Amino acid sequence: MKKISEFVSEIEESVTLSASKRARALKNEGIDIIDLTLGQPDFQTPKAIGDAAITAIKDGRASFYTQATGLPELKKAIADYFRRYYGYVPAPDEILATSGAKFALYAYFLALIDSGDEVLIPAPYWVSYVEQVKMAGGVPAIVRTSEAGHFKVSVDQLEAARTDKTRILVLNSPSNPTGIIYTRAELTALGNWAVAHDIEILADDIYHQLVYNGATFTPLSSLGAAIRAKTTVIGGVSKTYSMTGWRIGLAVGSPEIISAMGKIASQTTSNPTSVSQYAAIQAFRTADVDIEPFRAAFEERLNTIYPLLATISGFEVVKPDGAFYFFVNVRKAMRLTGFTDVTAFSDALLEKAHVAVVTGAGFGSSEHIRLSYATDLESLKKAIGRIKKFIESN
Ligand SMILES: Cc1ncc(COP(=O)(O)O)c(C=O)c1O
Repeated sequence: MKKISEFVSEIEESVTLSASKRARALKNEGIDIIDLTLGQPDFQTPKAIGDAAITAIKDGRASFYTQATGLPELKKAIADYFRRYYGYVPAPDEILATSGAKFALYAYFLALIDSGDEVLIPAPYWVSYVEQVKMAGGVPAIVRTSEAGHFKVSVDQLEAARTDKTRILVLNSPSNPTGIIYTRAELTALGNWAVAHDIEILADDIYHQLVYNGATFTPLSSLGAAIRAKTTVIGGVSKTYSMTGWRIGLAVGSPEIISAMGKIASQTTSNPTSVSQYAAIQAFRTADVDIEPFRAAFEERLNTIYPLLATISGFEVVKPDGAFYFFVNVRKAMRLTGFTDVTAFSDALLEKAHVAVVTGAGFGSSEHIRLSYATDLESLKKAIGRIKKFIESN
């Protein structure tokens, strides 16, 4: 047996990736699995984006290292994208292009956290925040939110969790896994609280263009100079432009933090893949019209499947406003079927109903499962039928 570092031994594998790995393994055995685990759109990247990448290769522009913090043209495209969606134009030294948003998040935690620093993470949370904070030597301070309060964290809850070691507040709106979106008033209150206590804010806005049924996204960083100075925005092309495989993320924040994150990038990834940067330039500049059909398809799936979920005995869901997940409370369904553990319940859905879902355990809940609706409507309807049959026959 090789000796593996204590550092790695302490890290949990991503539950979403391991759930999809198991689903794929069963599919490879010839079993007809409907996979609702993955957080990626099921559409091809718009053609013009791919074409821009091919042209960059053909023109010989993609062969070499780029600036560690991203091509100047990409920064320009990001600045313009911010003008359109955030109402302000960040300067080049406030922008970092990264190898995926996930790496931007890790670089951020590494840049800010000293050993023992606490990071406030409202639960349910996206799986990687907790592990990345631990990898950076920090202490995740989980703040539980309630379903009745639509999974939104309040200033009072944060104040109760604050200590003299609190360094960062993580906000993810629209949220993975719940799909909830904070309002302008809620964000203003949270932002002012963080400013008052000298707490940095990480605003993970990666789903901000995926909002439905007239819901609006308010960028926290656009709520005045004081809040903006404390906020680092994380985003990217993965979810909106259906580009998960291209691996381009972004961070926009104060020059000190962006420069520290850039230093980390320069010693790890060197630069985001050149060809993907050319694709991302095209995406940020021109692809908003191409992606409206994606958003509309998600909206249709949401509005079709949400009422069907309510017909499954023991399934309860807060209707999402954004992203592409249902975070279903299955406490009653577990009781009906004799399960006490949500991971065992998710395993049974995979093995008996042949529907792959993600256990809430990795998102900080012992009574939820996450279903992604980034798959076609027919498969989604079929999955609902299978889950229903499984629960009724147990
Ligand atoms: C909330 C959230 N942030 C960040 C990411 C990472 O995105 P990327 O694929 O660009 O690394 C994801 C992907 O699942 C996510 O759901």
